[in-house]
Amino acid sequence: MTCVITGAGSGIGRATAVEMSRRADYDTLVLIGRHSETLAETKICLENKKKIILKAFDLTDFGAIPILVQDIFMECENIQCLLNIAGYTEPQALLTTSLENMKTTFEVNVFAPFVLIRECVRFMRLNDRPSKILNVASTAGVTARPGWLSYASSKAALVSLSQTLSEELAEYRIKVYCVSPGRCATALRKKLAPDEDQTVIMQPDEVGRIICDLVSNDEYCLDGQNIIIRKK
Ligand SMILES: NC(=O)c1ccc[n+]([C@@H]2O[C@H](COP(=O)([O-])OP(=O)(O)OC[C@H]3O[C@@H](n4cnc5c(N)ncnc54)[C@H](OP(=O)(O)O)[C@@H]3O)[C@@H](O)[C@H]2O)c1
Repeated sequence: MTCVITGAGSGIGRATAVEMSRRADYDTLVLIGRHSETLAETKICLENKKKIILKAFDLTDFGAIPILVQDIFMECENIQCLLNIAGYTEPQALLTTSLENMKTTFEVNVFAPFVLIRECVRFMRLNDRPSKILNVASTAGVTARPGWLSYASSKAALVSLSQTLSEELAEYRIKVYCVSPGRCATALRKKLAPDEDQTVIMQPDEVGRIICDLVSNDEYCLDGQNIIIRKK
């Protein structure tokens, strides 16, 4: 069974790939990120003998996503799980930001997951057993974040997209999950909070473990909700 992971070259995506490689649920992992070097570094961290496929791909190349997904299906013969973990932020206040900032943020955080989901569902609906999709939103999408307008609003859109598709895709036995992590020690978080001590906040492997629990073969009750992952 094949699990496709975006954002797999760093942070939460890499930690999720590492944790997934230790588990029995999926025997093939497809790792997507823009840089083949960071994907190769992730591959080195993986455990056990699974089939690992690396795809260096810019997710804003929407026109090429159908081919990417088709290639994955041809190579793996199934797509059982999709983890939309890739994300982007360039925090700017309203009066100093631009439409470009808003567009780029929505492209990576909303439009890319939308196109990937649409293309994967074409194949997932053929699966014998329930398929799973999980989107990584953010607590920024549920409570106000002054100065983070594009990021926060894009994550709110992703929460809504997840909940809508959870209902819409039920007829294909596809479960759609949404998690919203709080502050987690990654490069993206560094952009949002440059002065924070990242050693005292949640670490990527803590989020990765929960993501793997949710898309495991034993979990069928927590889809359709926005699940907050926050360390006190
Ligand atoms: N860290 C937090 O506090 C926090 C909290 C809530 C939610 N999140 C969410 O968690 C997810 C993972 O982020 P992270 O915190 O782990 O930060 P990260 O290490 O900076 O990861 C972001 C990932 O997104 C990928 N990405 C960005 N633009 C892309 C594009 N155009 N095409 C393909 N991949 C692209 C990056 O890949 P490249 O290496 O190819 O650039 C990178 O692997 C994001 O959705 C983020 O919004 C993070």
